[in-house]
Amino acid sequence: MSLYLTTPIFYVNAPPHIGHAYSTIVADAVSRFKRLNGEKVFFQTGTDEHGDKIVQAAADADVSVREYVDNISRMFRDTWPPLAIEPDRFIRTTDSDHIATVQRILQQVYDQGDIYFAEYTGLYCKGCEQFLTEKELVNGLCPDHQKPPVAVSEQNYFFRMSKYQQWLIDHITSHPECITPERYRNEVLAFLREPLEDLCISRPTSRLTWGIPLPFDDRFVTYVWFDALINYLTGIGYPDAPHFSEYWGAAEHIIAKDILKPHAIYWPTMLRAMGLAPFHRLHVHGYWNMGETKMSKSLGNVVRPLELTEQFGADTVRYFLLREMSFGLDAGFSLEALIARRNSDLANDLGNLVSRSLTMVKNFVGGKVPAPGPLAPLDQELADAALAMLGEYRQRMTGFAFRQALEAVWEVIGRANRYIVATAPWELAKDPARATRLATVLHTLLETLRLVTLTLHPIMPATAAKMSAALGLTAVPDLNRDGRWGLLAPGTAITLGEALFPRLDAKGAAQAAAPKGQPNKTPAAKAPAAAPAPAPPIAEEGLITFDHFQQTELRVAEIIAAQKVPKADRLLQLTVKAPEERTIVAGIAEFYQPEQLIGKKVIIVANLKPAKLKGILSQGMVLAAKAGDRLVLSTVDGDIPPGSKVA
Ligand code: MSP
Repeated sequence: MSLYLTTPIFYVNAPPHIGHAYSTIVADAVSRFKRLNGEKVFFQTGTDEHGDKIVQAAADADVSVREYVDNISRMFRDTWPPLAIEPDRFIRTTDSDHIATVQRILQQVYDQGDIYFAEYTGLYCKGCEQFLTEKELVNGLCPDHQKPPVAVSEQNYFFRMSKYQQWLIDHITSHPECITPERYRNEVLAFLREPLEDLCISRPTSRLTWGIPLPFDDRFVTYVWFDALINYLTGIGYPDAPHFSEYWGAAEHIIAKDILKPHAIYWPTMLRAMGLAPFHRLHVHGYWNMGETKMSKSLGNVVRPLELTEQFGADTVRYFLLREMSFGLDAGFSLEALIARRNSDLANDLGNLVSRSLTMVKNFVGGKVPAPGPLAPLDQELADAALAMLGEYRQRMTGFAFRQALEAVWEVIGRANRYIVATAPWELAKDPARATRLATVLHTLLETLRLVTLTLHPIMPATAAKMSAALGLTAVPDLNRDGRWGLLAPGTAITLGEALFPRLDAKGAAQAAAPKGQPNKTPAAKAPAAAPAPAPPIAEEGLITFDHFQQTELRVAEIIAAQKVPKADRLLQLTVKAPEERTIVAGIAEFYQPEQLIGKKVIIVANLKPAKLKGILSQGMVLAAKAGDRLVLSTVDGDIPPGSKVA
């Protein structure tokens, strides 16, 4: 199977921001996922460099247009490698093969009679040097220049788009999967209920020279979409390249909803006019917002991908963006949310699982994959869950549901962490008679880690590579070959590297990474919620945000056993159910007798990093209230099962 995957080609009138990075990370992650699945992929991104917006931006920057586009295009190209994004082609609409392809197609469509010359009367804003539509006006005025546009007649070339309207409706209706998620297909079909107008595809050179000349009339240049959309054909060598048909038949475009209409309406009708099949799929995502407002260059409220990558590393940024946004819907960007995910999902959940598991393999079984005995029900449960997760992961990734794919993986990571607590390998290690059981538990953990690693290659390539190296996996990963249980060969050396995700000091990190304040142009961007002001520090006047609070996992735990800790007057060793069994060492011996505690339901901090107290590993903390020399345990006011979350 082959796949041709594209991002939009981005305008070079401003440097890249996180919105651009999201589409490109999605394309990269899907490319890696498909390759992991043994498929052949061609992934293309690039820059859109013609048009009056770009001429204007160059004039504002006081440099030549050529210099300007070279410079910003390079910024886009240089942003991707540090994010581990590896396109097969970075296309520019100023590339000579693209110019030739656009001219060839224009000539063909013109020759067959689908491009015609006509007079056009429209509302022209002199300030913008553009025609505006009625919809773009605010109270009859150009929103940027606050002046009424004037009716101007101009001769131009038009593409006979209306001719293909019924064909397009029929095509979308009979290929419902061609625009996803469904809401965007419905939006397009709703739009197609109104008669489609023909598309103006030129600008006279008296107004714009920075464009591709029409091959049949050099008094005009091509205008925007007839130039930009064709990049998707140029990139794979239309029409003669040997692999052109193979890739075109498997073309999938990734865009945000802002450019739905050109992609879902102009593009398929253009392709139809050229005698080509429409693209296979269009995947449409929502906006990254800052506060209530779309992140956009014109509002100046942007976050720069390179700055974020320097601060947090590519994998954290990729994970955060893919995990936080539900594909198709809008999502809010905040540094606090990014740091919270880094600390909870990556450092606590994944990082701890890896370091605990590998440390135990090193300390208890000589740093080699142990030979397992038969699986006990607890082991089988984890193995089954890991395999079921792989199935769900594949299905979700195929459906662009990255968030749900990652939720499934993290569910297993959580299970594996609880499995460690439940099986207590450190106890097994004390008893030579239980060596086989210990080997089975550690093998089960390593296998789970191996399957988790497999799923992380598309999302966090560097982390997956480190985890593979730690597990002694050297072959190029392959979802079909490796997606089974029990493939780690006993005897393989396991290496314990550095911590994968050191925890970040949330306050310092948020301040260091806050977007640089820039003057905002619009009132909307000045509103507090949308301003690019530094993210609020984590504790402002002693206050924390809800996100910070959520990092602490409080749970109800039932005490099922308690005993004094030898040679420690103040400590009791508790065994609690929360809902799995765990050991907690609590400094409450002066206030409670062990037998008083059995059956009590208390509140514990469940995600506290385990620590050794008098040689006993304490996995959590019991909450208690203290006043003077009195201490009472926190309890719950009613019957509720152990493990219930406290929030
Ligand atoms: N040049 C055209 C596209 C031509 S494609 C043949 C263009 N360029 S753009 O620079 O404005 O990029 C728009 C695209 O950038 C969106 O469709 C999306 O992929 C990405 N995003 C820009 N801002 C975004 C957000 N705030 N949120 C999510 N994605 C965003 O349109």
